[in-house]
Parts: sequence; C-alpha cells; structure tokens
Amino acid sequence: LMAEKGGYKHFMLKEIFEQPRAVQDTITGRLLEEQGDVRLEEMKLSDAELRGISRICIVACGTSWHSALVGKFLMEEHCRIPVEVDIASEFRYRNPVIDDTTLLLVISQSGETADTLAALREAKARGAKTVAICNVVDSSIAREAHGVLYTHAGPEIGVASTKAFVTQLVALYLFTIRLGRAVGTIDQATGRAMIAALVKVPGLLEKALETNEQVEKIARRYVNARDFLYLGRGMNYPIALEGALKLKEISYIHAEGYPAGEMKHGPIALIDEEMPVVVLVPKNSTYEKVLSNMEEVIARGGRVIAICSAGDDEIAKKAEVTLEVPTDGEELAPILLSVPLQLLAYHVAVLKGTDVDQPRNLAKSVTVE
Ligand code: G6P
Repeated sequence: LMAEKGGYKHFMLKEIFEQPRAVQDTITGRLLEEQGDVRLEEMKLSDAELRGISRICIVACGTSWHSALVGKFLMEEHCRIPVEVDIASEFRYRNPVIDDTTLLLVISQSGETADTLAALREAKARGAKTVAICNVVDSSIAREAHGVLYTHAGPEIGVASTKAFVTQLVALYLFTIRLGRAVGTIDQATGRAMIAALVKVPGLLEKALETNEQVEKIARRYVNARDFLYLGRGMNYPIALEGALKLKEISYIHAEGYPAGEMKHGPIALIDEEMPVVVLVPKNSTYEKVLSNMEEVIARGGRVIAICSAGDDEIAKKAEVTLEVPTDGEELAPILLSVPLQLLAYHVAVLKGTDVDQPRNLAKSVTVE
C-alpha cells in the first residue's frame, strides 16, 4: 500500500504533491499560444454556438461547487455573460429559468454525483446546452452532457478533493479563454497574456508546496482550536470556503469560510483569543480592504494565520503566523493559495489521528440522493 501511495503516508498528501503535474496534464495539448486561444474540441460547441449563449448556469456539489464560484468571476470578468452558480441539490428542485440560449456547465470530479446528474438531466430536458467539467473519463455525467472538458488530474483516491479541485480551476480558466475568444471579449493579446500566466502555474505550485514543513509546524500550534474562521474576498472567497471545508472534512474541527467584508455582520462576534482566523490576503485589487479586515480581527485578539504573496513584510509584521506563496497576478492566485490550506487541513488531521483518506461519514462520490 505504501508503494501505491508513492512513499507518502496518505493518498491525500500524495495528491497534493501531484498538483504541479496534474495541472500540466490539464493544459498539455490545449494551448494555441500564437493565436492566444485554446483548443477544447471535446466541448462540441462551435464559435457560433458560443456566441448564442445568453446566460451560463454552473451546477455542482461540495468542492466542485467551490470551483464553480471561482469560475463565475473569471467568466463574468472576461466574457461579460451573466453566470449563476447553484448547488445541484437545490437547482434540481427550484424550477430554474433555463432555455435554449442557456449553457449549463456541470462540474464533477467523479462524474457520478446523483444530484449533479439529476440537475444535468433537468437542464437538458429544458433545452439547455450542457458541458461537463469532469475528471473521470466516460463517467455518467461525462457521457450524458453534450460536451465535456476533462480535467486529466488522474485518479483521486483521498475523499477530500485536492488535485481535482485545482485542475477544475484550470479547466474553468481554459473555458473562459475559449469563450472570450469566441464572443470577442478577449482579444489575441489578452489571450496570449492569459496563456503565458497559466503556463507558469506548475512551477509556482512547486514553490507553494515548499511551505509544507512550515505548515506542519503551524498545524501543531493550532491543533487544539475548537473552531476556525477562513476569510477571503472576490475570487479568494470560494478558496476560504474550500479551506474551511477541507479542515472540517478531515480533522472534524468546526470551520467556516466567510467573505472578509461580511465578517462585521456576524462572525466578528465569535472572535476571541482562542479563535484562529485564516486570512487570504494576496497582493491584488482588494488587498487594502482585506488588510483592514485582518486588523479588525487582530484588534479583537483573534489569532491570524495570514496567507499572502511572497515578500509581503507588512503582513508578516502583523499576523501571528504568515505563509507566503508566489501569487504572480490576481486571477491564478486562488490556485496557489489553495496549497497551504490543503496542507494545513492535512497536518491538523494527522495530528488529531483521524482517518485522513477515509473520513467518517463521507464518501468519495455520493451516488444516492
Ligand atoms: C463528495 C466528496 C467531495 C466532492 C463532492 C462532489 O462529497 O467527498 O470531495 O467534492 O462529493 O463530488 P463530485 O465528484 O461531483 O465532484
């Protein structure tokens, strides 16, 4: 079994460390660097069909729903098409507004999640075009959708999703480039710049993984906390949700993700000297805003674990502990910030002695309602 895990103690850790390669596999063969475009023929949507889309609905469960939330930011920013994100178990019972100009994107690692499959069938029955972002080739969802965009992360065994999530973010970025090029909102130069940023990601992920030992030490310091709060803004808000989900799934510590600007409407009441608050504060357009949210936490005695851009000394001076990752631009930062959050959940769970790869009550794929 140790051999199957490639020398790692758990599949989850192995899969976290596989992320640079997984991302490389997601992008390989798809980039048209000269044209500033990508090739996604398996989606089976022509430029004319893409131009006919008036609205996009993204439907998913669990971790895949978090990647959908990031996808909304990317698509609305670059393609100027309204994007709605829904949880599959809600969508399927909601009488959603869908017609033949709606594109329904479903996201599923396994391609077998019952609620997501039902949502896909419902949208198809109402005339939507459908595309599945899936990891498992030839899964039910991949087969039933009109088109597919495989993530190519390789088999994911750990119940807590890691490399599948990160490759979903990459797939959504590729999808955004393709859609933007087809509808004309992304010009060739922008497409080229987006691709140039993307090809750096595997190398940056390697650097982000170098935080592993430091994260292990931090985990020892906070392992006895009863609750954790995770804060982020914009595209990093879903990453805060995902960080909190990882921690609760495998360590059984209660954790909540929140948009940093919304903290004052509730969670701030929970902050005291016992409360670790993970703050995602990379250098970007809302940096100053998040910094001031972080200061509000510190003023109330909260214990800030800041995840910031490499070389940010200002944050290091203020937070209780700091983890630096090379973020290199705003839009791909969610991918890199995910790494220390995965490692934090992992090391806390190992210290607690839980069954990291098979946490209680959870299944890798929920094929019943
Ligand atoms: C289960 C898994 C999660 C996963 C979710 C959705 O809850 O434990 O890791 O995110 O299902 O799965 P899917 O295969 O549809 O992405």
